[in-house]
Amino acid sequence: AFPSQVKMVEVGPRDGLQNEPGRVKTATKIEFIHQLSGTGLPVIEATSFVSPRWVPQLADAEAVYTGLQRQPGVRYPALVPNRAGLERALAAGVADIAVFTGVTDTFCQKNIHCSVAESLERYQPVITEARERQLGVRAYLSCVLGCPYEGAVSTRQVARLARQLAELGADEISLGDTIGVGTPLQAQRMLATVAEQVPLERLAVHFHDTYGQALANIFACLELGIAVIDSAVAGLGGCPYAKGATGNVATEEVIYMLQGMGIETGVDLERLIGVGRHICQALGRENQSRVGRAGLGR
Ligand code: HMG
Ligand code: MG
Repeated sequence: AFPSQVKMVEVGPRDGLQNEPGRVKTATKIEFIHQLSGTGLPVIEATSFVSPRWVPQLADAEAVYTGLQRQPGVRYPALVPNRAGLERALAAGVADIAVFTGVTDTFCQKNIHCSVAESLERYQPVITEARERQLGVRAYLSCVLGCPYEGAVSTRQVARLARQLAELGADEISLGDTIGVGTPLQAQRMLATVAEQVPLERLAVHFHDTYGQALANIFACLELGIAVIDSAVAGLGGCPYAKGATGNVATEEVIYMLQGMGIETGVDLERLIGVGRHICQALGRENQSRVGRAGLGR
């Protein structure tokens, strides 16, 4: 059954900006996050404490994070790839982290320079320490509907890995169609299989819109009751280690659809559209959100 309420996880400042070709000023990022904080979004992924050599776009993670004025009621998680990342995040005052791995070894090697099994070993002490310090822990699993290097993936393997991440102590597992290749019934079957291993309440979906399927995939997952959805305002985003992958599903599109379905998010769509237009202007890029381009006409 459809949920009555959905928690939106805005990943624009992280997934979006990690992939911008040009340099984005720290002040622009902070202002972007502040504007998002005023839309009713409950979770805004702020940045990544990853290697600046591999992702120079987010080299200013400390400056962004410590420059934020955090709004009460809003959570600002940050990505952490290893212990060094956790230490940087803790020093910056992060209260929620996200670790990330993938379904295939090739993607994992390109992304975080280790195999999937090694990544789980690496994350075990990171998650344990984060939990001891009362941090929230999310785990991303990438390539759940296909890998840019290995092609089709096994849904059973996706479910197994999601379960292992949950057993390591992640509160929430976000299932990523990193390259946006999935289609709705495939997405639904994948989610149903994963939900046999991890309670649906602990799952999130993370769709990229490369093939225009993201919103349809979300609808298919909503039918099963998924209640946490990742998205990026203005459809920003992509993964530097997934060639050809375009942005995340636009937050505006998801909110518009959910409103039409009578599903609560607490997000003010009109304000959100304004934020999307503003960041596109600041980045000098075209707004990838159809809703953002059309506006609400009132
Ligand atoms: P590595 O080079 O193999 O790391 O990178 P290493 O442990 O061998 O260390 C090499 C150097 O990096 C050392 O410095 C370390 O101190 C330093 P040196 O001694 O040479 O001066 N280092 C760090 N510096 C800062 N912060 C750190 C850190 N760790 C090591 N955390 C590593 C391995 C994992 C660090 C690297 O591959 C990395 O940072 N990868 C991140 C890639 C990334 O951010 N990808 C995009 C996010 S995933 C995504 O977008 C998918 C998602 O959206 C979901 C979906 O769509 O599916 C989440
Ligand atoms: Mg992503």
